[in-house]
Amino acid sequence: MSVKRIAVLVSGGGTNLQALIDAQRRGEMINGEIAAVISSKPGAYALERAARAGIPAYVTARKDYPSSRDMTAALVEQLKRLGIDLVVLAGFMVILTEEMVRAYPNAILNVHPALIPSFCGEGYYGLHVHEKALEYGVKVSGATVHFVSEECDGGPIVLQKAVPVEEGDTPETLQRRIMEQAEWVILPEAVSLFCQGRLRVEGRAVRILNQPNL
Ligand code: GAR
Repeated sequence: MSVKRIAVLVSGGGTNLQALIDAQRRGEMINGEIAAVISSKPGAYALERAARAGIPAYVTARKDYPSSRDMTAALVEQLKRLGIDLVVLAGFMVILTEEMVRAYPNAILNVHPALIPSFCGEGYYGLHVHEKALEYGVKVSGATVHFVSEECDGGPIVLQKAVPVEEGDTPETLQRRIMEQAEWVILPEAVSLFCQGRLRVEGRAVRILNQPNL
């Protein structure tokens, strides 16, 4: 099976991108290679992380396009030109239109900082997710890696990991714990499973195979 070319789409600090880069360095990204980083924000720190790792990095900003449909079309063209097999949304804060999913069916992974179907959907991104979880008073939160479908945060779930909420947590401390204990662990794992051909989507569910699904 040929090595899967991965594009990581980012908008901010890029700690999830860093987790992917580190996993690749440790040889844990089996049959996958991060071939490109694309940021929706020109000054994003994630771009520096890419440069330091020697990964080609690009900026595709929403403000450079008249509509999100135009931006999506430009991104799809760029991804196809780069020969990308898997798109990873790692803190990517732009909602793309359905053309993206049509171009990459079951080949886009997103990391969300909560246990879907809780605290997800439109308006639930970044720190807001943790604010809402604390407001609600949940005792457990976590992270989810899922395939992207046309429904916001509604695609088939690949991996999830629970993380306890602790007394005195702020959105920031909860966010950090969820990143460290869940996101940075399950995102590289899900990407590696995809690249090995070990994910099979069956309706809403994803089966993890012991052997590649060739
Ligand atoms: C992460 O917590 C990620 O799960 C979240 O934004 C943060 C990005 O951090 N994504 C979403 O909320 C998407 N709905 P990073 O840039 O350091 O990886």
